[in-house]
Amino acid sequence: MAQTAANFAPLEHTDPIAAFHAERATDVAAQGRDDALKRLSYRWIAETAPYHYAYNFCWMGRPVIQFPQDMLAMQEIIWRVQPDLIVETGIAHGGSLVYYASMLQLLGNGGRVLGIDIDIRAHNREALDAHPMRPHIDMIEGSSIAEDVIAEVGRRASGCKTVLVALDSNHTHEHVRAELDAYAPLVTQGSYLVVFDTVIEDMPPDMYPDRPWDRGDNPRTAVDEFLHETEEFEVDQRIEDKLLITVSPGGYLRRVGGGR
Ligand SMILES: C[S@@+](CC[C@H](N)C(=O)[O-])C[C@H]1O[C@@H](n2cnc3c(N)ncnc32)[C@H](O)[C@@H]1O
Repeated sequence: MAQTAANFAPLEHTDPIAAFHAERATDVAAQGRDDALKRLSYRWIAETAPYHYAYNFCWMGRPVIQFPQDMLAMQEIIWRVQPDLIVETGIAHGGSLVYYASMLQLLGNGGRVLGIDIDIRAHNREALDAHPMRPHIDMIEGSSIAEDVIAEVGRRASGCKTVLVALDSNHTHEHVRAELDAYAPLVTQGSYLVVFDTVIEDMPPDMYPDRPWDRGDNPRTAVDEFLHETEEFEVDQRIEDKLLITVSPGGYLRRVGGGR
């Protein structure tokens, strides 16, 4: 057989899908190492914050307080992990609950979303009750760190095969640390514990004057402390490297040990 360039092509280039993924992984890792690009992304986040950029979007008619980039990352995680339970602390208007519920309906695995909020406003509950995704959603009203709420969530998670947890309620260090202790044990092997708004640590100080969190007291400081004490979770760096614009740098945690 004549020796052509194709005979000597590296193995990965014979499979176009593998070649695509390999090239993308190389690009993602490279942009993740680009500190100037990261600084630009943080600056973009800081400069859009006064306009409440995260409030600009809806999913299936419900306001979702997230960056579209993080929503796409959650879709990728849900597809990969195929959870049959997603727990979210912090419901607000319920946009993310509806989003996760719609993803589970597409998966068709009978999965459910469990939202917890200290204050489910009447107008939000009414809109969620009337929503087509409602059959996939459960809600608990109460503090996510109250003992009875934690026990109830634990009961509901115990019969589930694959559990994913997203923390997006009160963003103080103390609260998120307590949530991490309460809900990390529910996350199943290979699944994710996503902690939103870790980016507060990368924002200028005093950016949230009407909130109890700030630089030095936020989800990122809680995650750092938590990871210092456990080897069961690690940051999935590939996610923030690909997003660049994310409210959760260092907040996409994957369970790599322990658990079920
Ligand atoms: C940032 S919003 C949640 C946004 C929502 N996850 C989304 O993606 O659209 C924060 C919510 O956390 C709730 N919250 C505050 N403190 C809480 C607590 N101790 N326990 C549970 N929820 C709490 C607030 O009532 C508010 O609705």
